[in-house]
Amino acid sequence: MKATIVVLPGDGIGPEVAAAGVAVLKAVAERYGHEFSFDQQLIGGAAIDAVGDPLPAATRAACEKADAVLLGAVGGPKWSDPNAPVRPEQGLLAIRKALGVFANVRPLKLHPRSAALSPLKPEKTKGVDLVFIRELTGGIYFGAKTRSDTDATDECRYTVVEIERVMRHAFELARTRRRKVTSVDKANVLETSRLWRSVAIRIGQEYPDVSLEHQLVDSMAMLLLTRPADYDVIVTENMFGDILTDEGAVLAGSLGLLPSASLGEKPCGLYEPIHGSAPDIAGLGLANPLGTILSTAMLLRHSLNLPTEAALVEAAVDAVLEHGNLTRDVGGTASTQDVLDAVLDACNAKAEAA
Ligand code: NAD
Ligand code: IPM
Ligand code: MN
Repeated sequence: MKATIVVLPGDGIGPEVAAAGVAVLKAVAERYGHEFSFDQQLIGGAAIDAVGDPLPAATRAACEKADAVLLGAVGGPKWSDPNAPVRPEQGLLAIRKALGVFANVRPLKLHPRSAALSPLKPEKTKGVDLVFIRELTGGIYFGAKTRSDTDATDECRYTVVEIERVMRHAFELARTRRRKVTSVDKANVLETSRLWRSVAIRIGQEYPDVSLEHQLVDSMAMLLLTRPADYDVIVTENMFGDILTDEGAVLAGSLGLLPSASLGEKPCGLYEPIHGSAPDIAGLGLANPLGTILSTAMLLRHSLNLPTEAALVEAAVDAVLEHGNLTRDVGGTASTQDVLDAVLDACNAKAEAA
């Protein structure tokens, strides 16, 4: 098949991990006879430096006509002055909004080696296989903001339609899994959460075959570390999802391992690792590329409808996690390139064996 994939490397380790993702997609295309064309565009701090805008019009236009978008990460100390007029992260939020990708899917399926990689006790990581569905284009991230010399505000607003569509996404996904949805909110305090919960209950009635439970976010933060194997699909609002998924990465062993797919009504999705630009290790060849590589598997599956190719990439990552030398964040001594090479070798070996 032919596909156009826009690549947004961004800042810090973004270009290093995005390059690894592209290399994997190129290898897949070659092996299966697909024609993928890669269109690299500016976003984030790199775009601010080049053209003064974290989401240039050309980037937005390219993404809007692409089959899929692969993003590295944005941001860094250079652009983090709290009084700066514009920030790299605004580019990321704007492209999510422009593509209408309201459901951010962040799977946390632990490889057996995570027991050794995670700082948690091995019995905690055993059998963990859950998926976070994080609402991505609403809530406090997108509400009106004010700032004066003496105060500042961020409005948190959710509409029924925004909650309904992400809930349906969660329930549909649960139907393909263990049929359990946990909706996370702060309904004891927030009005938006009370609306969230009432919509969750109503949509849940459309799915009598799926169980629904509610957890308050503070309690969920604790349960995620004490009983993680109990959860199947966890659906939550934008900011709670941001925080809980970084916490979830501790179970896997590193933030560098977790992928994501941001999906909406259209086939074109946005694929990115859940981590940031990691300024502390940028340029050193230490970045773990596996979260991005697993994001390319999600891209193959969800936007290009290539499940065999996606499964090959996932199996190759599994093999590297099983036997391979990993990057420093997960206790190894391998470079980004070493891990990429190991994944490409494993792809070849698995494809030959198939
Ligand atoms: P971060 O995720 O960049 O890094 C947190 C820690 O995890 C660091 O110690 C880092 O070295 C490590 N880490 C992250 N990814 C790694 C990888 N692939 N391999 C090995 N180690 C990895 O979070 P931060 O330091 O709080 O944020 C830095 C910048 O990134 C900020 O500007 C923030 O806004 C931005 N950010 C961007 C995204 C995104 O583009 N999607 C996501 C999160 C943070
Ligand atoms: C993420 C990041 C972003 C978010 C930031 C960089 C805007 O933390 O993708 O998880 O909060 O959504
Ligand atoms: Mn985050």
